[in-house]
Amino acid sequence: MLDLGSGSGRDCFMLSKLVGPKGHVTGVDMTDEQLELSRKYIDYHMEKFGLQQPNVEFIKGYIENLKEAKLGDESFDVIISNCVINLSPDKKAVLTEVYRVLKDGGEMFFSDMYINRKLSEELKKNKMLWGEGISGALLWEDLAQIAKEIGFSCPRLVTSRYITFNKELEEILSDYKLVSATFRLFKLPRDADKEKSLVTYKGGITGLETEIQFDANFSFKEGRAEEVDEELYGILKNSRFTDHFSFCSLENSTGSKKDIITDPFQFAACSQAGISGSCCEPKICS
Ligand SMILES: C[S@@+](CC[C@H](N)C(=O)[O-])C[C@H]1O[C@@H](n2cnc3c(N)ncnc32)[C@H](O)[C@@H]1O
Repeated sequence: MLDLGSGSGRDCFMLSKLVGPKGHVTGVDMTDEQLELSRKYIDYHMEKFGLQQPNVEFIKGYIENLKEAKLGDESFDVIISNCVINLSPDKKAVLTEVYRVLKDGGEMFFSDMYINRKLSEELKKNKMLWGEGISGALLWEDLAQIAKEIGFSCPRLVTSRYITFNKELEEILSDYKLVSATFRLFKLPRDADKEKSLVTYKGGITGLETEIQFDANFSFKEGRAEEVDEELYGILKNSRFTDHFSFCSLENSTGSKKDIITDPFQFAACSQAGISGSCCEPKICS
């Protein structure tokens, strides 16, 4: 696994425990002080998790150029990132590099800040907004566009919530809104087959034996067949999830299409209003 902008290493150490002695976690960060801090705790966590060898390393690098950090093509199963891509001046370069270093079927699972409309040029230069990483927040529509151009599957929204600000920032931002949202992006083989399908979760994922909440739209209960669209079929069939599902083609299905929620602002509004389950129904949220 790879963590982009690993900071103090917190998420990498959590992953270190999850992947265990047969797995490996790499954290990349550009800041020497952060690298130094994270490296200081490698031995502590190795001991704590009962590992004979460290399974985590922290390397210096820019997430826009992972080649320079010597990360090879198709070398990671899963890439994570928390609150870093919004700080990058070149998001497309970051996601292009993510695509390059991910294996086929691999996944980018990441949280970031999104803004509801483009910041004015004047506000982009505001020091406080820079400091908070707000100036670089993406529109989620731009994320979807960049992902498409690079070749990723459509971003799958996992969750989102409104970000609240102190009075000073609130005044500067006036009617702009920001959310912290988590998306899943999959790199599928170019020739991955996609078809409408009935999928059944077979269980077997540690900690998720009876149900897997895949994203904001789909939760799969063990043994219960669910209809999924071509895109989600492609993801489940061609990723690490494949052995945990059975698939049954629904080529001639005439059933109505499930509304899929991808807009993190819509999700955050529904969550705030306490609407659950039927959150994606446009009649409630529009
Ligand atoms: C807000 S912190 C988040 C740290 C960590 N992901 C967490 O959740 O605690 C952002 C981190 O990203 C790193 N960073 C920002 N831009 C970067 C870039 N372009 N390349 C590499 N690291 C970057 C910073 O050095 C910092 O450690």
